[in-house]
Amino acid sequence: MENIPNEQKTLDVLILAAGLGTRMRSNLAKVLHKLDGRPLINHVCRTATALAPRKVYVVIGHQGEDVKSAVLEELTSEHAEFVWQNEQLGTGHAVNSAREFLENEDSTLLVLSGDVPMIRAETLAALVQQHRAHRGKGAACTILTVKLDDPAGYGRIVRGDAGLFDRIVEQKDASEDERKIKEINSGIYCFDTRKLFRALSSVKNENAQGEYYLTDVPTLLRNEGEDISLYHHSDSNEIEGINNRVQLAEMERVLRRRVLKKMMLDYGVTFIDPYNSYVSAEAQIGRDTVIFPNVSIEGTTEIGDGCIIRAGTRITNSKVGHGVEIRDHCVIVDSEIGNGCQVGPFAHLRPQSRMEDESHVGNFVEMKKSVLGRKSKANHLTYLGDATIGEKTNIGAGTITCNYDGVNKHATSIGNNVKISSNTMLVAPVKIGDGAVTGAGSVVIKDVEPNTLVVGVPAKVIKTLNEEEN
Ligand code: UD1
Ligand code: MG
Repeated sequence: MENIPNEQKTLDVLILAAGLGTRMRSNLAKVLHKLDGRPLINHVCRTATALAPRKVYVVIGHQGEDVKSAVLEELTSEHAEFVWQNEQLGTGHAVNSAREFLENEDSTLLVLSGDVPMIRAETLAALVQQHRAHRGKGAACTILTVKLDDPAGYGRIVRGDAGLFDRIVEQKDASEDERKIKEINSGIYCFDTRKLFRALSSVKNENAQGEYYLTDVPTLLRNEGEDISLYHHSDSNEIEGINNRVQLAEMERVLRRRVLKKMMLDYGVTFIDPYNSYVSAEAQIGRDTVIFPNVSIEGTTEIGDGCIIRAGTRITNSKVGHGVEIRDHCVIVDSEIGNGCQVGPFAHLRPQSRMEDESHVGNFVEMKKSVLGRKSKANHLTYLGDATIGEKTNIGAGTITCNYDGVNKHATSIGNNVKISSNTMLVAPVKIGDGAVTGAGSVVIKDVEPNTLVVGVPAKVIKTLNEEEN
């Protein structure tokens, strides 16, 4: 049986994610609660992927289909294998659900918890390495442990003679003395896959919670004469589990501080009030950019150098160039802003909006799926939807692209050097040629030729403009 040397065994990962998470007091499964804008399970899957395992098995149950979708945002379907655990009878029972896939595999199995999201790939790699190298032949099980000042809620590591592993005792089953132990089980382990499944068959549910505990497996293996190794880690933040919303909020805070510190020290970003600034761990911000209070930079947003982002703005999955000023209370989602642009206050860039270099979008302007060309301006009270606007064009106050006829959306195209006067309605589909001018209050229902002045309701051609006039 033992033909493959430990260090050459394939690595598989198993993630436990079937529980509801009663202590969250939520209708949403625990692993779908978000940390840094992404479900907890996504963090664990991304970390697992960094180890390049053969396969990642995910045990799902509560809201399993939604958990599956979240996992597939991080893993390809050929790397992910879903295992249903329809009744949640404990972590041992959860692992046992994968028996048919794994019990005969001569592999190393890394078991992770879907509710322990901060663990780093480097730590896991070190755990796997110790597991494989233990006493030259490898251990049957290696447990990642850590010491906590407040170990309440976790399983405690009971060490016996010579500091060797004796057993794990859950908080609810622990004696008063055992509860004083500060070394805890992180819920992260490495197993010899076949030995794990062999021992799992003997796990009983005779404990305070009436559950099949995975934590009983190491003791069973030890009793069979197998080696159990403990990998003690020093960074307790990494192994903290999320069981309630207080822990979730605390972890969000720790992560936020870490990201902001890195932005300040490594990237040279100024935060006027770092305690009230929110930046995703996936975002990038350039040198000498200044972030005012209550700004949220979400998702994979990239912001260039020397920008100013004023108070109350939210930017999600967007790209912002260099030297951009985004004034107070703007919302920018899935959009692109070129170099030297000005935005806001109170502007709304909805998905697929693009502002080219040095363009301006001002107060109470909404853009959706539109392009505003280089040096063009839409400064006041305007809606630009499904519109393409050329260079050096001015969109007057109160202009509306009437893009929706009640059934379909239609496009508006506006050329270069156009003057759209205040309160113009552009009834799409419509094209305005280069150098054209509309009069204030015009309702444009037909295409306008280049260098032409149109006025009225509906707008009529008044004259063709010569070069000095436009
Ligand atoms: C578990 C450990 C504990 C450890 C702690 C670390 C056991 C018995 N206890 O306790 O020693 O200190 O993690 O965070 O293992 N799950 C399932 N199916 C089930 C039960 C749980 O998939 O039937 C999943 C949960 O969704 C969760 C993970 O397993 O992602 C851990 O379960 P949880 O109930 O949070 O265990 P803890 O009480 O935290
Ligand atoms: Mg837990």
